[in-house]
Amino acid sequence: MFLNLRLMLVSVLFLSLGSTSARGVASLDTLNDGRRNITDGQMLVSAGGSFTLGFFSPGELNRRYVGIWFSASMDAVVWVANRDSPLNDTAGVLEIDGAGRLFLLDGSGLTVWSSNTTTGGSGTPSSAAAQLLESGNLVVVRDDDESNGAVLWQSFDHPSNTLIAGMRLGRNPQTGAEWSLRSWRSPDNPATGDCRRAMNTRGLPDCVSWRGDAKKYRTGPWNGLWFSGVPEMASYSDMFTNQVVVRPDEVAYVFNATAAAPFSRLVLSEAGVIQRLAWDGGSRVWNVFAQAPRDVCDDYAKCSAFGLCNVNTAATLFCGCVQGYVPVSPAHWSMREAAAGCRRSTPLDCRDGGATTDGFAVVSGVKLPDTDNATVDVGATLEACRARCLATCSCVAFAAADIRGGGGGSGCVIWAGDIVDVRYVDKGQDLYVRLAKSELAAANKKRGSMLKILLPVTACLLVLMCSIFLVWICKFRGNRRNRDNQAKSILRGASNQLIGDENIELPLVSFKDIVAATNDFSNENMLGQGGFGKVYKGILEDDKEVAIKRLSKSSGQGAEEFRNEVVLIAKLQHRNLVRLLGYCIHEDERLLIYEYLPKKSLDVFIFGTFRFPC
Ligand SMILES: *[C@@H]1O[C@H](CO)[C@@H](O)[C@H](O)[C@H]1NC(C)=O
Ligand SMILES: *[C@@H]1O[C@H](CO)[C@@H](O)[C@H](O)[C@H]1NC(C)=O
Ligand SMILES: *[C@@H]1O[C@H](CO)[C@@H](O)[C@H](O)[C@H]1NC(C)=O
Ligand SMILES: *[C@@H]1O[C@H](CO)[C@@H](O)[C@H](O)[C@H]1NC(C)=O
Ligand SMILES: *[C@@H]1O[C@H](CO)[C@@H](O)[C@H](O)[C@H]1NC(C)=O
Repeated sequence: MFLNLRLMLVSVLFLSLGSTSARGVASLDTLNDGRRNITDGQMLVSAGGSFTLGFFSPGELNRRYVGIWFSASMDAVVWVANRDSPLNDTAGVLEIDGAGRLFLLDGSGLTVWSSNTTTGGSGTPSSAAAQLLESGNLVVVRDDDESNGAVLWQSFDHPSNTLIAGMRLGRNPQTGAEWSLRSWRSPDNPATGDCRRAMNTRGLPDCVSWRGDAKKYRTGPWNGLWFSGVPEMASYSDMFTNQVVVRPDEVAYVFNATAAAPFSRLVLSEAGVIQRLAWDGGSRVWNVFAQAPRDVCDDYAKCSAFGLCNVNTAATLFCGCVQGYVPVSPAHWSMREAAAGCRRSTPLDCRDGGATTDGFAVVSGVKLPDTDNATVDVGATLEACRARCLATCSCVAFAAADIRGGGGGSGCVIWAGDIVDVRYVDKGQDLYVRLAKSELAAANKKRGSMLKILLPVTACLLVLMCSIFLVWICKFRGNRRNRDNQAKSILRGASNQLIGDENIELPLVSFKDIVAATNDFSNENMLGQGGFGKVYKGILEDDKEVAIKRLSKSSGQGAEEFRNEVVLIAKLQHRNLVRLLGYCIHEDERLLIYEYLPKKSLDVFIFGTFRFPC
């Protein structure tokens, strides 16, 4: 279907182009000297067909926008040029000038939007081209002789509400320029909305969603492998590689897709929710791969200063305090109002320039606190970090900056003010919270007394479980023994000789008893016959019915071999099969004694395809 569209476009474009100038050759994905503009209804299509650039109306038809969308799904608009200045009709034209500036003109020739292309100080080019790449990026490059294809402008540098593979979310710390997402105002209005998603480059790199001036959600700092609060990033690393680039002129998050990965986009919704969507080409739907915020604990600073959010509690009381801290206002806290936060229960012992008797409690498995005002030194070791924190009276906590390389991690983040937005999370990190020695001692004592209670309780539980296990074992063995005893009583009178295998106690029955039981192998007692021999019904002394298989004498097997084979059969016994109760070896007679079952079921076993070794 899409190919058809492309073919149609080709013909439309060639008709409308008529003649092309000497320089550029008209191409479907390019605006250059050959074709300087497209009008409403015309499109650029990337070389592989994945992306389309053209005019569209997400809502009312009298608002026209120029944008780029994923060709297979027109509503997946990944970029909008004139999001805040729609055209009122279909008379718009998108064109490129010789200097590489893109203009969107309305019917009267007024500029509605322009690309603000900068030439980077290398002189105004005499010729430039805009090309829609297969990655979804619209790039403007120099197209003149001293060009080298220098990029003058690209749509990837001006994101809308969507991040696709190869785009950056971040900023240039030197210029302050930012690559950030801005939500649409509503699903059918691409105008700049209230929500923003940007990279925080103070402290450790951290992606933050804002609504207006309020922080709504934070991924947690990049720990070298994933954002501290989004461990699931590691789970789809086979499809998307996540990377945070840190350079003097760029701190940015970029994801790339492997060749086998489906087309994927990260979209910031009007409500400030970020979703990673992946296209299922087979069923033509977008699947939600990941979403943030996920739960209440993702709400920024849900539990305020020194609070610790735990979503895995049965109660609705998600907020607790980090170790050594207590709620400032317990009354409010119990009413689920955490705004006042927590305070240290025992003051620190830090004296100016003096030694300190403070120590650290480890809070494990957490998303690290906001590093906005934290001090970061990626070169330090964790041990140096600890010493540095102890030596600074204002230090309240520290953590490793990078978890790669195992151990406790490396690098150093030191918090001096409040710590906020801490939550438990899978594969979370260790946060070392500074506490007074007395507080730590109390905690240890508490742990000690807990142990004093827990140890006997655990011991009792263990004893109880062992007893239950023993009783069960005995009962189980008892059941077995009962069954075996039963079998033996059936075969009372048989010799006591047993096959010597500790797990198989199979009585050797005397030939005399068998002759008696089967009425000397009378024809009335015969149940059936096969290649292996005949089967007789027998009644043992205690009136127990059994089936006796008399193997043909042609096997020529020795007594020892037969015995081994009986053991094998006995081992193969399964509760769904007929039980082997005993056997008999007498001169060249070889006999097997089974439970007697009503006809059909026994037939299957004895006359069926099951083949005995003899
Ligand atoms: C668009 O390009 C065509 C052919 O190159 C030209 O005739 C037309 O004037 C251009 N339109 C505008 C608005 O520049
Ligand atoms: C579209 O119409 C509105 C109101 O009629 C006007 O304010 C706006 O300037 C128009 N935009 C364009 C691009 O002509
Ligand atoms: C265009 O770029 C200049 C310099 O980078 C900047 O000062 C100006 O605000 C930009 N204009 C628009 C409309 O983005
Ligand atoms: C992204 O992946 C493609 C292959 O899937 C590779 O060609 C490209 O170089 C990668 N880009 C980056 C920035 O890693
Ligand atoms: C960082 O410091 C500023 C200024 O004191 C303050 O407004 C902000 O809340 C602090 N951020 C955090 C996460 O504590």
